[in-house]
Amino acid sequence: MEMFFSSENRSAPIGVFDSGIGGMTVAKAISELLPQERLIYFGDTAHLPYGEKSTAALQAYVIKSIDFLLSHGCKVIVIACNSASAAAAELARAYTGSRAKVIDVITPMVEWVAKAFPNREVGLIGTRQTVHSQVYQRQIAQKQAGIALHALATPLLASLIEEGFFNDQVSKEVVKSYLSDPILAPIQALILACTHYPLIKNDIAAFFEKQGREVVLIDGSMIVAESLKAYLTEEALLSSEKTEADAFYVSDFTQSFQATTQIFFGKEVKLALFRLWE
Ligand code: DGL
Repeated sequence: MEMFFSSENRSAPIGVFDSGIGGMTVAKAISELLPQERLIYFGDTAHLPYGEKSTAALQAYVIKSIDFLLSHGCKVIVIACNSASAAAAELARAYTGSRAKVIDVITPMVEWVAKAFPNREVGLIGTRQTVHSQVYQRQIAQKQAGIALHALATPLLASLIEEGFFNDQVSKEVVKSYLSDPILAPIQALILACTHYPLIKNDIAAFFEKQGREVVLIDGSMIVAESLKAYLTEEALLSSEKTEADAFYVSDFTQSFQATTQIFFGKEVKLALFRLWE
């Protein structure tokens, strides 16, 4: 039986988590679309990058992050990370049960792509975990929309972005080297299957433009925010006003995260430390 929250608890916060600061692109889209919702953000920076971890390790991290967000009374928990969604979305839903609704980033994206690009050649870039898990490949095949998916692991990109390389010469060169892979030659659209990648969207767009190719870039952050809005609306769980400020936690604090976080979220963010293992 699905219970989750009732409308009396509609002012409860939305929990959002990722390996680090990439999930901030999703948090930013949520706060733009649903400004009256309070966010509790958790970046598991002690364990990044998630994209290089085993499924078993990611499942353990996801459960810990969910426990933390549930302790804040979140009505919905958004897994704002493709790698964690690929490894543990089902487990996260089973574990959370009726305590909160769990939204992953892959399901809404697949639904959107199946509607927008039937019978097309669609590319995908993401971490090794996301690509090798075959979760996108399976879910897109299940839609039977005639989509041919061409997926490429681009493991360096998330760390590069995390280090502050975007819209510069370094990110342009790395993007060029990855996207020149022949596997992406036939594509008409490209799924940015990592929540860090909206930061290098301009670099990716510039690469295709230079080649004279028209490739639509699919950035999931707004798609996920829309799916969250649809859920809250349907369940009468939309908050009517924001009474407390958003809160941001990381499992390992560094000054560089603090600085990059502002760029990701688009406004000033004060990071607090929460050690996941204590
Ligand atoms: N942002 C995460 C994703 O969407 C991955 C980054 C990482 O490897 O930690 O897959």
